[in-house]
Amino acid sequence: MNLQVFEDKQQLAEAAARDFSERASEAIESSGRFTVALAGGSTPETTYKLLASEYADEVDWGNVHVFFGDERSVPPDDEDSNYRMAREALLDHVSVGSVHQMKGELPPDEAAMQYEEELREFFGSLGNEPEFDLIQLGIGDDGHTASLFPNTPALEVTDRWAAQNPVPKLETVRITLTLPVINAAKAISFLVAGEGKAEALKEVLEGDAEPYDYPSKLVQPAGELNWMVDQSAASQIAESLD
Ligand code: 6PG
Repeated sequence: MNLQVFEDKQQLAEAAARDFSERASEAIESSGRFTVALAGGSTPETTYKLLASEYADEVDWGNVHVFFGDERSVPPDDEDSNYRMAREALLDHVSVGSVHQMKGELPPDEAAMQYEEELREFFGSLGNEPEFDLIQLGIGDDGHTASLFPNTPALEVTDRWAAQNPVPKLETVRITLTLPVINAAKAISFLVAGEGKAEALKEVLEGDAEPYDYPSKLVQPAGELNWMVDQSAASQIAESLD
């Protein structure tokens, strides 16, 4: 586990864009392609804008294959759509090898099944979970990540690559990659900014609460685990900084 603390949200975003760019170059050099699952929410938006501008000529976008970690049950042009955020910040500005949208406009169980088929078609359906080169994740103030919320059914899904997940407190059903897929990644980068995340981050990195209460604790990848956080979010994690 690597923990990097940045002065502010902008420096975090720059480091995350650099991280993406360097991993893309390495993966494309070694295997001819870079497979990445983008994070949702608001924190990654600045990173994606930087990739579309300062890194537009740095990355071999034609060999970058874009997936999503999770999606809300909304159409792709909805203001709450993770796909829309990524499209407006990045995908409208660079020409990537392929984009695999999670179809929030479909009934969530159907969208999850459709996404699983798409993952199996792209990564090969036989055998183990797909090994993304990079999965970017955020964390909620309740310790959720992707759309794996505390004590929700999808936390227990081990035989699917994508699942629907009812989230009673949001009165909605989300679509999310499952933990076996997330934990099969070669690298995971958590992007965490703001005071509002400090308590959850402390619990996830240092606390002893049940993992189902803070699902980000269940992210234990076979590969690298990188926590990229700003100082506000790191304000309560003294131990981990020693
Ligand atoms: C989503 C996300 C979710 C997000 C966190 C943090 O669709 O909401 O995938 O897991 O990463 O909620 O969101 P913010 O970056 O907006 O704080």
